[in-house]
Amino acid sequence: MTIEGTPVQLRTAHWYDGQTRDNYIHRSWMKRGLPDDVFSGRPMIGICNSASELAPCNQHLDELVEHVKRGVWESGGVPLEFPVTSLGETQIQPTSMLLRNLMAMDVEESIRGNPIDGVVLLAGCDKTTPAMVMGAASVDLPAIMVTGGPMLTGRHEGRALGSATDMWRMSEEVRAGTLSEEEFLATESVMTRSAGHCNPMGTASTMASMVEALGFTLPDNAAIPAPDARRLRLAHLSGRRIVEMVREDLRPSAVLTRPAFENAIRVLSAVGGSTNAVIHLLAIAGRVGVDLSLDDFDRVGSHLPLIANVMPAGEFLMEDFFEAGGIPAVMAELADVLDGDALTVTGQPMREHWAGRTSWNRQVIRTMADPIMPEAGIAVLRGNLCPQGAVVKPSAASPELLTHTGPALVFDTIEDFKARIDDPDLEVTPNTVMVLRGCGPRGYPGMPEVGNMPLPAKLLKQGVTDMVRISDARMSGTAYGTTVLHTAPESTIGGALALVQTGDMITLDVPGRLLTLDIDDAELDRRRMEWQAPPPVATRGWYRLYIDHVTQADTGCDLDFLIGSSGSVISRESH
Ligand code: FES
Repeated sequence: MTIEGTPVQLRTAHWYDGQTRDNYIHRSWMKRGLPDDVFSGRPMIGICNSASELAPCNQHLDELVEHVKRGVWESGGVPLEFPVTSLGETQIQPTSMLLRNLMAMDVEESIRGNPIDGVVLLAGCDKTTPAMVMGAASVDLPAIMVTGGPMLTGRHEGRALGSATDMWRMSEEVRAGTLSEEEFLATESVMTRSAGHCNPMGTASTMASMVEALGFTLPDNAAIPAPDARRLRLAHLSGRRIVEMVREDLRPSAVLTRPAFENAIRVLSAVGGSTNAVIHLLAIAGRVGVDLSLDDFDRVGSHLPLIANVMPAGEFLMEDFFEAGGIPAVMAELADVLDGDALTVTGQPMREHWAGRTSWNRQVIRTMADPIMPEAGIAVLRGNLCPQGAVVKPSAASPELLTHTGPALVFDTIEDFKARIDDPDLEVTPNTVMVLRGCGPRGYPGMPEVGNMPLPAKLLKQGVTDMVRISDARMSGTAYGTTVLHTAPESTIGGALALVQTGDMITLDVPGRLLTLDIDDAELDRRRMEWQAPPPVATRGWYRLYIDHVTQADTGCDLDFLIGSSGSVISRESH
């Protein structure tokens, strides 16, 4: 069965086109709600919904579903919503990253196994966006994404509060003794002002920006606030558009190309986006067979300036960013370094995304000639501490610490860190390099966001506001500091981080892209010979599968058997 007026074969014909017993089964049960005539020649559109009351940032997605459905019906398609796993960043333990690939598997198999011709992906919170793109990319049916949008700016005593970013700041002020616990807790009920995800350029806003920059959404998707009527209209238009995409047979593999990833990396630099985007973009690229490497982030993006003045690298929040023009305005500023030919889900080249757009507020979105910070993109480090790489985000770091040598203070686990960090007798100075290990993909497991270790209370009380910190963990996109993250290989599998001893000198040289443990090779070899691998932290279930198959941070922490695509063909029947 082809779609009327096109040579495109409907995938759902496999289920519905014919007079066999199997066709009967597929149609009959779906007729609980659908009339006879929708089974011939009408594109069936899945709406992949990650709404969950346990994922606060995604709670409102059900409302968007209704607007997507309107657009689908209007264009002649048949909308069919289905739920998938959801991951609430602030709620789920031990870390949402442990479950990103599980969600991606759920998305992939739910799309592949069901009778749909195209899919609208609804996500919001940090991991839900990349998980959905990963899963959909591995099926490669026409797909478009609508993210939930950032929450409105909460204010306490007249001052804007950045979700999580200001929580990190105030928490340190309490420990420094400059803010009372009472004042800190008074902000708790106003920080989350509305539906939506965190409102700085944290990981959720970053990933929404990345999917927009990849051309995987309609223009303006990333920044329209969650409760804004314009997001409902965007959902409606995305519903219309997915039906056209099915008619055009426009698939993710045509959109998620190398030029699209390079565009996304450039936007990542310009908006001061989360280091988590490195891991997620690598994982998505792996699903579509784009040969993206960790070094591409440095090569393509590190020399570009920061032009979006949004927390945590800047001052404003996503609501301001939207009013200033959002991602299309940023891309207009970057136009000279972007690939405008990259195809988008609109069917138009990427340059149409920013055509006619400009910044409407130069305080929030600056020009390339007058940036907030030059050369602000994520830097990739190498050296004997991280032969497979580590990352640092200069726009969130202290410039004076980007070149630093100091003695290591080692914490074997995050629990060890929490138990000792506020000990008044802890031997630590502002010069110390804090090292945290046991927090990589396999070791934790799941690589939690603990790389922005809080500073020792006794140093905070002296007015110290930043120190060099190194770990095999990740960092919340809302956080900041001179933190070296994603050190690979991780300590649990014998990476050099496992061999560091308190008192060893460590050199960080971001301009030189170096991270080194300053001991001679013979001593390093001796320690390596003596090192013993810790026992696995899990022996069964998902944890076990994850530990056995997760790749390191430099290749995106996907499961090794999930890399690539299996396509959308189902060749065997269920009855
Ligand atoms: Fe969901 Fe921050 S907790 S985006």
